[in-house]
Amino acid sequence: MVTRVILMEIITAKTAGFCFGVRRALSIAEETAGTNDAGVYTYGPLIHNDEVVRSLKEKGIEVLGEPGDHAPAEGATVIIRSHGVSRDVTEDLERKGMRVTDATCPFVLNIHKIVRSRGEEGCEILIIGDPGHPEVRGIRGWCVSPVSILQTEEEALCWNPLTDKEICVVSQTTFNEKKFCELVEIVKKKGYHINVFNTICSATKERQEEARKIASQVDVMLVIGDRKSSNTQKLYDICKKTCVNTYYIQTVREVEYAWFLHAKSVGITAGASTPNNIIEEVQIHVRAHI
Ligand code: F3S
Repeated sequence: MVTRVILMEIITAKTAGFCFGVRRALSIAEETAGTNDAGVYTYGPLIHNDEVVRSLKEKGIEVLGEPGDHAPAEGATVIIRSHGVSRDVTEDLERKGMRVTDATCPFVLNIHKIVRSRGEEGCEILIIGDPGHPEVRGIRGWCVSPVSILQTEEEALCWNPLTDKEICVVSQTTFNEKKFCELVEIVKKKGYHINVFNTICSATKERQEEARKIASQVDVMLVIGDRKSSNTQKLYDICKKTCVNTYYIQTVREVEYAWFLHAKSVGITAGASTPNNIIEEVQIHVRAHI
């Protein structure tokens, strides 16, 4: 009798894991650790990953604003994470005597510059993104002219400008590009004078395109990332549309054997704040146990 062993094919996205902006913010934080006796803090968790936040804490970097935390002493260093913050936040920290180290991703800084300069030229601003996301709150905080935010088709259909000026449209860097184009089309059809800046980060685009491609080729797709990570959630949504057997996991411990019973191929991708070691653990586990 011939026993045929079918090996599971595993395709891991080349774009899975830390993006340029997150890697940069992390290395700024690591270089800043231990440089200030008054303390070093990040303004909110540096990235959406508890393990990374814990490891920074071991290096002496606390998260500003965590419940139960003591207030930083005057002169402490506060690191702004890659999402960026509004101008008010930086000014407020400086007023309180903090030293601000800016690890805002240069791509996000570029959006701050666009909304500010276009606003100074008299344009109204329309941000396409999640109004509750820190990056979008930060962008809003750099606007010097009337600004509105939308993220759904329904909102785009109901949207009306606040002024009769030219409208400058920008996007949250991690927004789904297809959805961005759809929303822009809806707004354009209303006939207003609009000027569109597609500020979706190329890292996001590439990650989403690769995830979509892999999801279309495999039986099971794993998307790894923290539950609070909006870019991971978007990756999951994209993959789920193409591959019904798509699962969102935070760590290897959430992988279930039953998902792979009839699978011959598995795809793996991960959000921009997922450390490489977590991706590798999932890969090794799937290869060894499934
Ligand atoms: Fe920057 Fe793009 Fe990452 S905007 S933080 S490189 S997803």
